[in-house]
Amino acid sequence: MREAAIVLAAGAGTRMKSKKPKVLHEILGRPLVMWPIAALAEAGVDEVTVVTGPDDAAIQEAVSGTAGVAIQQEKLGTGDAAKAAMATEALKGFEGSVVVVYGDCPLITADTIRSLLDARAREDAGCVVLTFRAEDPFGYGRIVREDSFTEASPSGEVVAIVEQKDADEAHAAITECNSGFYCFDAAALRDALARITNDNAQGEYYLTDAIALLREDGRKVVALETACVEDCFGVNSRVQLAEAARIMQQRINRAHMEAGVTMLAPELVWIGPDVTLARDVEILQNVTLMGSTRIGEDSLIGPDSRLTDTVVGAGCTVDETVAVEAQLDDGATAGPRAYLRPGAHLCAGAKAGTHVEIKKSIIGAGSKVPHLSYIGDAMVGTGVNIGAGSITCNYDGAMKHATTIGDGAFIGSDTMMVAPVAIGRDVTVGAGSVITKDVPDEALAVARARESIYEGWTPRHRK
Ligand code: UD1
Ligand code: CA
Repeated sequence: MREAAIVLAAGAGTRMKSKKPKVLHEILGRPLVMWPIAALAEAGVDEVTVVTGPDDAAIQEAVSGTAGVAIQQEKLGTGDAAKAAMATEALKGFEGSVVVVYGDCPLITADTIRSLLDARAREDAGCVVLTFRAEDPFGYGRIVREDSFTEASPSGEVVAIVEQKDADEAHAAITECNSGFYCFDAAALRDALARITNDNAQGEYYLTDAIALLREDGRKVVALETACVEDCFGVNSRVQLAEAARIMQQRINRAHMEAGVTMLAPELVWIGPDVTLARDVEILQNVTLMGSTRIGEDSLIGPDSRLTDTVVGAGCTVDETVAVEAQLDDGATAGPRAYLRPGAHLCAGAKAGTHVEIKKSIIGAGSKVPHLSYIGDAMVGTGVNIGAGSITCNYDGAMKHATTIGDGAFIGSDTMMVAPVAIGRDVTVGAGSVITKDVPDEALAVARARESIYEGWTPRHRK
């Protein structure tokens, strides 16, 4: 059976008090709306349509490439939003299952979505609705079952969902709540949506009214009670954004630990959903790993490090380092306090030490930049040592220029390499040199003012 999904995301999100649409606020580097979309993809849903308002160009752009878009002209309710989705080219004639989730509920999992789809197929239901029990159900739609008012623990088929504002005392006492996530039979949903009205306390078109209509049509409605209430958590405020982030952090870190990664303080480690960690990686406190970062076996990351879109090989040590789009091959080390900018590539066993900034440069195998250096637009060979305080002067105020340093070169401390410049293999550069001319292989280059000594100068001067 084909499977489609609708992600409702046309809400205003006023409680965020933000210029930005609510569903574009991020947790762990991923916008809220992209979390359910990722869960749907993981569950194997073929066709995802996101419902946005007409002015939500930023949301439409964020989801483009992963989902289609439906425009809901006015926010007339969840039923109207679903109708807008069902009217798109993608869903107009669609036959099969349609999952409905919310763009502001990032914690929904692929497993839960899968269980909704499987339950509908198994029971040939018009709808399967995901429900949860709440001690305080106030605010949620209540699940009314056939035996809701006759049994202490009702388990009958669902006959209706009643919204808080439309609930009488008996409805309000029901503790089983509507999560807002469903799996519908597409044709049955289309039929029901054509008939829902806004004749209710809020004057809205309720998607929840589709339930009673399906029942009138003789279709079965199944409630699937979730064991994991967190899955249904919705974000309406920045406080809830932080709560959702914390839950996601726990899920992600737990999964890594279960797969063989050590974190002794997982509450102080933030790892994005697309990061991959090999076995026996250890992550120390205050580490943030984001984007497509990958870490190889036995590497030690942290404390106090932030890696984004960075690839780290096996057996590396990364201490108090910020890295963006950088690469460390096996056995490389960075920090404490290194800054590896885009295109920084430490080859096997290479080192970027304390207060070292590297940009768009290859540091050859076993080469070391141990202290206080800036290396930009450079090709550094193997076995090179770059002394403390040395820098590539790669920018002349208008253009960037390249520096090359041959294998085995020894660059004395405080050397300025004024690019473009090429330093040959096994060259030695004297400390404090300003190198402006190419240096041939195996040469010694010294470019600094000669030292002058004036004996007995101090006492004379102080007189
Ligand atoms: C809805 C359900 C309620 C359920 C609750 C769970 C209805 C009528 N009620 O209530 O039974 O317990 O979710 O959280 O469906 N949206 C649109 N367009 C609209 C209105 C809403 O896209 O015109 C989107 C919102 O952005 C949001 C989602 O739909 O992501 C839910 O809307 P919201 O107004 O929060 O529904 P509730 O009143 O909370
Ligand atoms: Ca809500």
